[in-house]
Amino acid sequence: MCDMSDVASAQPGRNSGSGERPPEDSSESAAAGVDAGEVVAVVGAGAMGSGIAQVAALAGHETYLVDMVAGAADAAVERLVATLNRLAEKGHLSPEAAGNAAARLHTEQDVEALPPCGVVIEAIAENLGAKRALFEQLAATQSPETVLASNTSSLDIDAIAGDVPHPGRVIGLHFFNPAARMRLVEVISGARSDEAALRRGEEYVRAWGKTTVRCTSTPGFIVNRVARPFYGEAQRMVAEGIADAATIDLALRGAGFAMGPLELTDLIGQDVNLAVGTSVWEQTDRDPRYEPTQAQRDLVAAGQLGRKTGRGVFTYVDGKATDAVPDERRARELVGGPVRTDPVARTVAMLVNEAVDLVARGEASAADVDVAMQLGTNYPRGPIEWGREIGLATVAAQLAELDAAYPGGRYRPSPALTSPPNPTDSTDPIDAPEGA
Ligand SMILES: NC(=O)c1ccc[n+]([C@@H]2O[C@H](COP(=O)([O-])OP(=O)(O)OC[C@H]3O[C@@H](n4cnc5c(N)ncnc54)[C@H](O)[C@@H]3O)[C@@H](O)[C@H]2O)c1
Repeated sequence: MCDMSDVASAQPGRNSGSGERPPEDSSESAAAGVDAGEVVAVVGAGAMGSGIAQVAALAGHETYLVDMVAGAADAAVERLVATLNRLAEKGHLSPEAAGNAAARLHTEQDVEALPPCGVVIEAIAENLGAKRALFEQLAATQSPETVLASNTSSLDIDAIAGDVPHPGRVIGLHFFNPAARMRLVEVISGARSDEAALRRGEEYVRAWGKTTVRCTSTPGFIVNRVARPFYGEAQRMVAEGIADAATIDLALRGAGFAMGPLELTDLIGQDVNLAVGTSVWEQTDRDPRYEPTQAQRDLVAAGQLGRKTGRGVFTYVDGKATDAVPDERRARELVGGPVRTDPVARTVAMLVNEAVDLVARGEASAADVDVAMQLGTNYPRGPIEWGREIGLATVAAQLAELDAAYPGGRYRPSPALTSPPNPTDSTDPIDAPEGA
């Protein structure tokens, strides 16, 4: 099954990069609360598991990388050691730090051979049956105090915990790709996750130089949920003939996004982007807000997956789009016009709606949503802050206009945009809509 994280990895900017360089504040001295003497295990030596192991070893932990495929963990550690050496050669690490981190990396093929660990982070294939079986094994072999974390991007934490004894120790720690470089980690609470385990998980990854946000185990968590309309609105506007893809992209770049949504889907891969969208749509009982577009399904069916196949929304030669020629005049005409044909207002209204709704359902705080979208997707502003700046009542009116133009539920405004928050609920972080 393909990976279910499609946003962060692709947006260029301060949070992404080669995947090699450790965050500036990652060091051998772990932050308060976490003892670098505690052993860390990472299960799954693929792209994510290797990156997470690199971060843990650099932070001073004896780190075990486990993979069920014979030789896979050893090969991953070999690659990691080469990466650490390269970092030292480039001056990003001292040769001593690189050598020490390399010496802290150990491998196993079976989790039953692991020593007692402070935290075990699972990064195996995105398959519920496989993850459940692994957590059963981990729960039987590690102490009830060990935090058992999944790096899943789309599966429910409670489903992964299944019937393990002490399910409170099971949480989600959702790293972004490349894990060594991306600062954001979503800390996911299942219905049975203990607060102590969540805090412990947070302490670990913060000590490794990461920024954490909290979210409940809701489809897509924060980043993969709130980002959906960034792509969906652009695809729809092209299909509606409002402007061509390059012009829509230009308008969004003009609003401060590092890449336009359509060129970004080509970079992510149309198949990966469609799989994430479909997963959120299915998990929300096919809420029309997340329904994938026919245009994207057609691209995937035709094998036009984006840069990796040389053709997606655009055509690529030597990694460069040859047919992305925006109509600058058209972009200027559209921005600031009616919301239905304004690529920026329409996209931002939908991002704000999604973000506000997530907060209103109690799945994440407003502050965390804004941090997550800025660090996880490199958006120029957090959507909640952006919505407040525009005015939540204005956003509600824009959505109502879209809802009238395209009935069916996709554009229904979140109740939190149109009704004032409960004045007795001091935890509600969304402002009362202006004039309400
Ligand atoms: N790749 C991304 O961009 C990304 C981002 C965030 C989260 N994730 C999530 O991280 C997890 C891993 O993704 P990935 O891209 O690194 O996958 P991957 O396919 O690169 O690596 C998975 C590794 O796990 C090993 N494995 C599978 N089953 C195992 C088991 N039962 N025990 C031990 N090892 C096992 C495989 O041999 C493989 O080496 C998935 O849940 C994915 O959804 C991926």
